[in-house]
Amino acid sequence: GKVAVMFGGTSAEREVSLKSGAAVLKALQAQGIDAHAFDPKDQPLSALEAQAFDRVFIVLHGRGGEDGTMQGALQLHDMPYTGSGVLGSALAMDKIRCKFLFSAHGLPTAPFRVAQKGDDIDYAAMLAQLNGKVMVKPANEGSSIGMSAASTAAELEQALALAFEYDDAVLVEQWINGREFTVSMLDGQALPVIEMRTPRAFYDYEAKYQSNSTEYLCPAPISAEQTASLQQSAMAAFKAVGASGWGRVDAMLDSDGQFRLLEVNTVPGMTEKSLVPMAARAAGYSFEQLVAKILEQAL
Ligand code: DAL
Ligand code: MG
Repeated sequence: GKVAVMFGGTSAEREVSLKSGAAVLKALQAQGIDAHAFDPKDQPLSALEAQAFDRVFIVLHGRGGEDGTMQGALQLHDMPYTGSGVLGSALAMDKIRCKFLFSAHGLPTAPFRVAQKGDDIDYAAMLAQLNGKVMVKPANEGSSIGMSAASTAAELEQALALAFEYDDAVLVEQWINGREFTVSMLDGQALPVIEMRTPRAFYDYEAKYQSNSTEYLCPAPISAEQTASLQQSAMAAFKAVGASGWGRVDAMLDSDGQFRLLEVNTVPGMTEKSLVPMAARAAGYSFEQLVAKILEQAL
């Protein structure tokens, strides 16, 4: 059948999606699959039926594509799609709900507070409650957009103002002093762990997409026990938010030797340099095999 590769969209991660989508489209076409680009920014969903598509490969990042809204719309069009369903997509997109679910399931995650736009916030008190240094994140963004660190009341005020430009709800998370890892998921199973190392203050937008100085280590240089424990936590987190199929769970190793889960991504980056393709390669799947496996899950 004819496959619509949906990418682009209107979120703040549009540029990333354009790259991910182009790579997926090329890999599908290279194996003889009748795949075509479909940007929901340019075409109404009714065009899917009109153009006789019978499945959608979702490579939209962020709101309007990764957050359950597109998944719900496609379901109403009886159009099978790749990845997580409505609920898992919506919960995974929201970093605050992710954290509540991690806690409810006894999964390790850093202490946090929630700030809503319009709240009367005591910045110094909030900082003190979170050990004096925090990472501030818009609840529903990706690729580190709108995120910044703060260790004074003035910095926290500024970090919140920036995050509120992107979202009405903001996660203020206790700073984790440690190494960054990610666990890619395929068919609900964990792939080899990757460690990301950057000379920057954290693995931000520039470190992710623009810098040549970011290092990726796969499989991550941690013990077999640590690897197994992180993979277990990641699979449990993926399930806890109702995600399914493929995705990626981000985590850090704190200076006390404990892993802390950050969040779940249900449509992670898929450029040829991205993390899920790197983990898949370490597990023996080429990029083409990876996209074929993801497409098979579209029901
Ligand atoms: N939000 C970006 C695309 C990622 O998680 O890879
Ligand atoms: Mg994310």
